[in-house]
Amino acid sequence: MAHLRNIVVLTGAGISAESGIDTFRDGGGLWERHRVEDVATPEGFARDPELVQRFYDMRRAAVLTKQPNAAHHALARLEREWRGELLIVTQNVDDLHQRAGARRVLHMHGTHLNAWCTACDARHRWSGTLFDNPPCPACDTRALRPDVVWFGEMPYEMDRIHAALRDADLFVSIGTSGAVYPAAGFVQDASALGARTLELNLERSEGSHWFDETRQGPATRLVPQWVEEMLGG
Ligand code: NAD
Ligand code: APR
Repeated sequence: MAHLRNIVVLTGAGISAESGIDTFRDGGGLWERHRVEDVATPEGFARDPELVQRFYDMRRAAVLTKQPNAAHHALARLEREWRGELLIVTQNVDDLHQRAGARRVLHMHGTHLNAWCTACDARHRWSGTLFDNPPCPACDTRALRPDVVWFGEMPYEMDRIHAALRDADLFVSIGTSGAVYPAAGFVQDASALGARTLELNLERSEGSHWFDETRQGPATRLVPQWVEEMLGG
């Protein structure tokens, strides 16, 4: 690992599981209790905006009561102490990476913390409810929605993510099922561009076979262990 400088880390719901935030596809996961097409698609929002706002109000409230775990803190430590570049790309909409102290975090699926005005395109930090369809603080129109990327919508920050993958010496995937594109394809992009690839996940995922190395176990054990290795501890 001595020649490595630029690291890209992709995280999914699994890194926040031990903080008490439901994953999407694990047994009893989020989608098993809610139909995706009802709460995570533009069509579902158009059909029943109150159901969707209530779903995301519940998710936002749940996230605000949770704390970062040892895996989030280990990544923040690596960002502080690593000799090269580290970029965290997360599919998660929680803010646990930032609350652990990480500064370079890209939310490709948006974040629970913002409301997005579909009338004027402004984004606002939002901790309250959207259920009562409040007016946008910038344009006063009642057109706010959760700033979360739904199925069928384009994920955010893709140009910056592809640029980072081009420069990556190491690509590490943590706590994601490898079920959803484009994130599920990043390992192949990184590998084709010459990076080493490592997967840290509770069990083998749909993408495990693309990785040079995969390790199975809980993120709160695997991630601190890996960071120690990278920092020569
Ligand atoms: P996609 O069509 O590539 O989705 C592929 C996978 O997503 C499927 O294998 C399934 O696992 C799941 N999926 C998609 N639509 C589904 C449905 N109607 N019912 C059940 N499972 C479904 O994903 P996409 O359309 O390209 O989505 C665009 C982006 O939106 C993706 O990156 C997705 O991860 C993201 N998204 C974010 C959230 C969130 O809450 N943060 C929720 C949904 C989707
Ligand atoms: N430690 C490490 N990995 C874990 C842990 C843990 N404690 N608990 C669960 N996992 C793993 C599971 O094995 C699974 O592979 O985390 C993964 C969670 O997968 P998903 O629930 O599919 O979550 P994710 O991969 O983030 O979903 C991707 O799909 O629904 C959309 O936009 C949504 O961002 C989400 C995207």
